[in-house]
Amino acid sequence: MSKFERHVFVCLTQRPETGKPSCTPRGGAALFEALQAGLGARPELWDRVAITSCGCLGPCFEGPNLVVYPEGVWYAGVSPEDADEIVEQHLVGGQPVDRLRYEWPED
Ligand code: FES
Repeated sequence: MSKFERHVFVCLTQRPETGKPSCTPRGGAALFEALQAGLGARPELWDRVAITSCGCLGPCFEGPNLVVYPEGVWYAGVSPEDADEIVEQHLVGGQPVDRLRYEWPED
């Protein structure tokens, strides 16, 4: 069992410009920094929430992307300006930000 209540994985994949789209050139690094800043401003979360950079999460054409566990809530097309809303509403309040959620297509 994890010591964290929530664990956020933020895609920081960077592919060549001529390749498939990737999250870092689309703003993923700035998003990661903004999420870290948001968490940094909430010391009560420091030992309850982890934010970890990671490789490709899958929906590359929709990025920048992140996923929050244990709920398995996916977010796509997230900008740095959205970070505070995710921190306050989801990581503090426990309510996902519906307007940013990504739903995987049905097979
Ligand atoms: S490159 Fe970020 S989800 Fe694939």
